[in-house]
Amino acid sequence: MATVHLDQITRQYGPVKAVEDITFKIPEGEFWVFVGPSGCGKSTILRIIAGLETASSGNVYIGNRLVNAVPARQRDVAMVFQNYALYPHMTVAENLAFGLRMRQANPSTIQTQIDQVARSLAIDHLLNRKPKQLSGGQQQRVALGRAIIRQPQVFLLDEPLSNLDAQLRDDTRAELKQLHQRLGITTVYVTHDQVEAMTLADQIVVLDRGRVQQIGPPQTVYAQPANQMVARFLGNPAMNLLPAVYGNSLFWLGQQSLSCSVDLQDQLHPYEGQHLNLGIRPEHITWVPAENPSENIPTAAQLLNHAPLKVEVDLMEPLGREVLIRAHLLEANSSTLIQFQGPAEAQFQPGDRIIVHLDLARLFVFDPQTGIGLFD
Ligand SMILES: Nc1ncnc2c1ncn2[C@@H]1O[C@H](COP(=O)(O)OP(=O)(O)OP(=O)(O)O)[C@@H](O)[C@H]1O
Ligand SMILES: [Mg+2]
Repeated sequence: MATVHLDQITRQYGPVKAVEDITFKIPEGEFWVFVGPSGCGKSTILRIIAGLETASSGNVYIGNRLVNAVPARQRDVAMVFQNYALYPHMTVAENLAFGLRMRQANPSTIQTQIDQVARSLAIDHLLNRKPKQLSGGQQQRVALGRAIIRQPQVFLLDEPLSNLDAQLRDDTRAELKQLHQRLGITTVYVTHDQVEAMTLADQIVVLDRGRVQQIGPPQTVYAQPANQMVARFLGNPAMNLLPAVYGNSLFWLGQQSLSCSVDLQDQLHPYEGQHLNLGIRPEHITWVPAENPSENIPTAAQLLNHAPLKVEVDLMEPLGREVLIRAHLLEANSSTLIQFQGPAEAQFQPGDRIIVHLDLARLFVFDPQTGIGLFD
C-alpha cells in the first residue's frame, strides 16, 4: 500500500478543462470515493493516477515517488475500468491468473488465490468459461477479481459495480469493504452511486465540473455540505430547495414565512430583501393532516424548533417500508416541490392539504448566486 498525492492537477482537452487544480493526499491504506455527476472528471482523475492519461500540469506522487513520467505498468496499481476489458480468448480462471503468471508466481499459490477470489466474488462456477459466455455483471466481477488477485500498492476502481443487479451490488459492495479491511490496500473508487459512496468511503471527494467541491468523511459531507451542489448530490431523495426572500428576520416563501435563528440574523443582514434558497432534507420534515384540527396542535418541541408550512399533496410513491410524498407549497409565488417521507400506511390523495413541520435546527441557507452555505 502507498499514499496517493495529487498536487494541482489540471487536464485540458483543447479549450475544455476536464479537471482543474485537483489537490488531495490519500494516506496509506485509506478508501477514498470520488463522486459527482456524469462528466465531472472522475474517470480522468483515475486515469491520471493510473498513468493512462498525462496531466496538462501538476504532479502525481504514489508513495513518495513522483510518477509523472513513470509508465502505467511500473506504477504497481490495478485498475478496473468503467468499460472493463477481459482477455477474450482466455477463460475466467486464466484471466484471473494472468497478472500472477506474469510475475511468475508459484502455480499452487496461483490456484489457491484464484479459488479464494472467485469464491468471494461468487464466480467460482464460471472459471472455465470465456468472457463472451458471461453476463455483463459476471464479466464485471471477473475484472474486479483480476485486479484484487494482484494485491497492488493501489486499487483504482471506476464504477466497478455498475452492471450488477441490486442484490449482487449490495453483496459485492460488502465483499469489497471486507476485502479492504483485510488487505488495507489504498483504494480510489469512482461512482455516482451515493449509497456506495456513503458506505465504503473513509473520505468522500465531491466533484463538479472538474473541480473539487468538498472532501470529508461521509457523515460530515452529508450533514455539513459545503455548498448547494454537494447538499443536493448526496441524499436520496435529494435535499429540498425552497426559494425564499429574506425580510424582517423571516424567510418568506410566498405568503408563508419561517422564522430565522437569532445567530443567523447577523450573517443574513446583507440579504435583507434578497432571494435565498432554503435547504431541508426529507427526513427532517414531519407532517400532520390539516383536516384533523386536534392533530394540528404542535407539541412543545415542535413549537420550539419546528416551523409549519401548508402544502398540497401531488403524488404518493410507495417504497415498501415507507411512502415518499411529493407535494407543493401553498400560497407560494411559483410552484415549489417539497418531498418528504411518511409511514407506509399513510393515506393521502392528490389534492389533500396538509401541514408539514420543518426542523429548523436542520435548515440550510444557500446564496442562490454562489451556492455557498450560510451557517449559524
Ligand atoms: N479524450 C477526450 N477528449 C475531449 N474531452 C474529453 C476526453 N475525455 C474526457 N473528456 C471530457 O472531460 C470531462 C470529464 O470526463 P470524465 O470521463 O472524467 O467524466 P466522468 O466524471 O468519469 O463521467 P461519467 O460519470 O459519465 O463516467 C467530460 O466533459 C468529457 O467530455
Ligand atoms: Mg467516468
